[in-house]
Amino acid sequence: MMDIAVIGSNMVDLVSYIERMPKEGETLEAPDFEIGCGGKGANQAVAAAKMGSDVMMVTKVGDDLFADNTIANFKKHGIDTEYVVKVPGTSSGVAPIFVDKESKNSILIIKGANKQLAPEDVDAAAEKIKKCSVIVLQLEVPLETVYRAIDFGNEWNIPVILNPAPASKELDFQYVCKSDYFIPNESELEILTDMPVTTESEIAAAASSLVQKGLKNVIVTMGSRGAMWVTNEAVHVVPSYPVKAIDTTGAGDAFIGCFSHGLVKHGDVLEAMRKASAFAALSVTKRGSQASYPNEDELQPFLLSNV
Ligand code: RIB
Ligand code: NA
Repeated sequence: MMDIAVIGSNMVDLVSYIERMPKEGETLEAPDFEIGCGGKGANQAVAAAKMGSDVMMVTKVGDDLFADNTIANFKKHGIDTEYVVKVPGTSSGVAPIFVDKESKNSILIIKGANKQLAPEDVDAAAEKIKKCSVIVLQLEVPLETVYRAIDFGNEWNIPVILNPAPASKELDFQYVCKSDYFIPNESELEILTDMPVTTESEIAAAASSLVQKGLKNVIVTMGSRGAMWVTNEAVHVVPSYPVKAIDTTGAGDAFIGCFSHGLVKHGDVLEAMRKASAFAALSVTKRGSQASYPNEDELQPFLLSNV
């Protein structure tokens, strides 16, 4: 048995720590640079694996020096790579990221091989995905592939977690409604609903509009304000943990990976959200995305010191 199938993206994060963005025509020195493993799918897979879940990854890497490193990174975290496929003649996904002094980030993604993750790749991995207790999806791979994975989950009664990131207006709501847990951040929620998301009550209203359209569970990640779970019956807010933010890149992925783990291991949504909030909070205190994710033994003392 496996716990979690992440069907989605991987990227190599090229992170520049900057004072400010250069103007057009300007050459500007930035203080620091780091290279790391990223991509929303891979980040979520690594977060779940670090918490102790058995994770398989369905993704595509390119034909370059990044590919073997990405595969080795999955293996290092005990992630099953049978369906991590190399695409000849294509670059791996890369993400040039700029993090400023206020720890705010701007991210460019060049999808590379991720663009070629096709519905057939889901079919090829079917026997192994069937053994998983949850399927986790994001939107850095073609939408048809995401739709195939949702249908697959529904067909085999496997709960589907859909993280609509980066937000896409083309996302077909018919498929969105077939996911069991829909987890946007505030800005993705705003783009998807065309509703304001400044205050918590606005966020609740926007999330409820999705529930009224047929979604079962909407969980909005709200950064330092925590996370909100909206269903037909209730609205719950799980507060975040106060930390000094250094780099928030991949914090949403941290939440989703850790949440998926909790859902698989005990099924208590609020408890899974609380742990995921703590996991994500710890991740923002360090540089990078995956590189900043804590281990279970770093998370426990943090949780205990924040009760
Ligand atoms: O969500 C953060 C991630 O977005 C980064 O790791 C980057 O690779 C982009 O996919
Ligand atoms: Na981080």
